[in-house]
Amino acid sequence: MSIFDAVDFADHEEICHFFDRSSGLRAIIAIHDTRLGPAVGGCRMWNYASEDEALTDALRLSRGMTYKAAMADLPLGGGKSVIRGDAATMKSPALFRAFGRAVETLKGRYYTGEDVGTTPADMALAGRETRFVLGRDEAGSSGDPSPFTADGVLMAIEAAVAHGLGASDLRGLRVAVQGLGNVGMALAERLFARGAELIVADLDERRVASATARLKAGSVTVGEIAGVECDVFAPCALGAVVDDGSLPRFRCAIIAGSANNQLHREEHGDRLHERGILFAPDFVANAGGLVNIAQEVLSPRYDRERTVAHLPVIRRRLRQIFERSAATGSPTHRIALAMAREIVEGQRAAA
Ligand code: NAI
Repeated sequence: MSIFDAVDFADHEEICHFFDRSSGLRAIIAIHDTRLGPAVGGCRMWNYASEDEALTDALRLSRGMTYKAAMADLPLGGGKSVIRGDAATMKSPALFRAFGRAVETLKGRYYTGEDVGTTPADMALAGRETRFVLGRDEAGSSGDPSPFTADGVLMAIEAAVAHGLGASDLRGLRVAVQGLGNVGMALAERLFARGAELIVADLDERRVASATARLKAGSVTVGEIAGVECDVFAPCALGAVVDDGSLPRFRCAIIAGSANNQLHREEHGDRLHERGILFAPDFVANAGGLVNIAQEVLSPRYDRERTVAHLPVIRRRLRQIFERSAATGSPTHRIALAMAREIVEGQRAAA
């Protein structure tokens, strides 16, 4: 693939390929934009079918990080790294140390961290070679981002419910949670505590059983959850859940969840808007984990209270998006992208 002509090339500042002979590391680091600060974004390890696929992922995900950081009022840019390989069979200490050396060559223009296919322990290995690693499995690090992501998604749901349904709290509202992993389960617990009625689905039956027993949740199959009649559909499993197949099936007023890139294509957001379904753009709603890990970059010592104080930016930003969408008639995902670009270009102040 020619990089500058790639569909997903979006004025990325730097794209580096790394190969390490002894460990077999094949990695790409994409730095999208550092105008607001050093690029931050996790390291994904995935068995990509081709280099093009890996590059596309790095280009798309790094751009998404720029916008996510901007909308969360963080003085950070966007980057992402991808390692080609099977996370189940191809990991080794040497691989992650080689990856750490790759990150070190960028001299702090890019900070990495865990992502799909990598763990804090992997990042601790990388961290033996570079200090530009966040969320290591070590004392003093920011730890598991998922509870903060869940806090942020809860704020997003509350903002959407206030705007879309005119409700001041979640009592009695029906929320369908797709995926009960680290974020989805934490979100379900928070929703339950606020009096919402839950319908859940996960591939893992034990997680479903836990939610039905502890949180009085109803359950449906993974194939059914997107079509459940509810106030809020909260995708917390996979990306691209809003596509040609799911769109006609939605019977919800709001979509707000943690999954990255929920719209299969931009047009799917337009179709949600036409259907009158209020969409909380994912890169705004799911920024809580980034807000937390960012504290490792922004202050000499990680302090949980700084995260807690910063998180309501998610609620404020979503209110702005919903209001501007209502005023202009433009769909929320387009408003959010426009706002993110305004922030990066320095044309818009903090939320
Ligand atoms: P996880 O891997 O802990 O949980 C995902 C859950 O979804 C698992 O329990 C899995 O069994 C389930 N699942 C997979 N396919 C499913 C399907 N078709 N239907 C229903 N359930 C299915 O992941 P985590 O950390 O909870 O993240 C969830 C989503 O949120 C991911 O898309 C992730 O990229 C995104 N995200 C997570 C953040 C975090 O702080 N962990 C931050 C920002 C985004």
